[in-house]
Amino acid sequence: MSSNARILFCGDLVGPAGRRALLALLPVLRERHEPSFVVINAENVAGGFGITPKLADELFAAGVDVITLGNHAYRHREIYPYLDSEPRILRPANYLRGQPGHGHTISERGGVRLAVINLSGTVFMNAGRSAFAEADALLAELREKADHILVDMHAEATSEKVAMGWYLDGRVTAVLGTHTHVPTADARVLPGGTAYVTDVGMTGARGGVLGVKRELAVEAMTTQMPVRFAPSDDDPWLNAVLVTASQPRRADSIEQLLIQA
Ligand SMILES: [Fe+2]
Ligand SMILES: [Fe+2]
Repeated sequence: MSSNARILFCGDLVGPAGRRALLALLPVLRERHEPSFVVINAENVAGGFGITPKLADELFAAGVDVITLGNHAYRHREIYPYLDSEPRILRPANYLRGQPGHGHTISERGGVRLAVINLSGTVFMNAGRSAFAEADALLAELREKADHILVDMHAEATSEKVAMGWYLDGRVTAVLGTHTHVPTADARVLPGGTAYVTDVGMTGARGGVLGVKRELAVEAMTTQMPVRFAPSDDDPWLNAVLVTASQPRRADSIEQLLIQA
């Protein structure tokens, strides 16, 4: 059976600008790269923080196969039942079991099964359980169930993401970092065959500060007072990677896609 897969993964979708950039560019990217799977981190799509059922439905309708999240997963209460009932949307797997939702799923296209795992770092971030122990447990569970495994490692510390890349090298198809909204220049296939990048970046307004209107972010930093953030619309970009694979759980290549919308 073929293990050929081409996985398009987009970094954190931020606000309306990010959503519009993705919806406008997805048909172009489909034509250009013919991805067999489209996976998107959309933890900031609802006005910059979290996601709602309506927005998730819109992304699935546009052809997104799996949505991953992160520390903003629970910003909107209306998403809680949706996280429990919709298998294609993930919050970090190493959150407490009592928290809404689940952290992994399996998507099938053309006879190829892709498992997606969402993990959260624990350095400078809150997650109830270890990302490393959770990865081990899930890999044991998924051994016979998936041809490819993609891990979205949502973490603040670059060291924790690099460590996870090495920890899972040779055991999964890709470890892709998210959360910082700034793409890193270290995308490569590790020696064991795992595609890796410390941060994919964001799909959102580059003219802001990590997607937030720059004047608001600057005001918060200069005054040290609370400021209500709003998403920027200035200079939207799509930040993504394309991972190709022909052997089970091994990547052939990872290509960074940084495209002005
Ligand atoms: Fe984010
Ligand atoms: Fe985040």
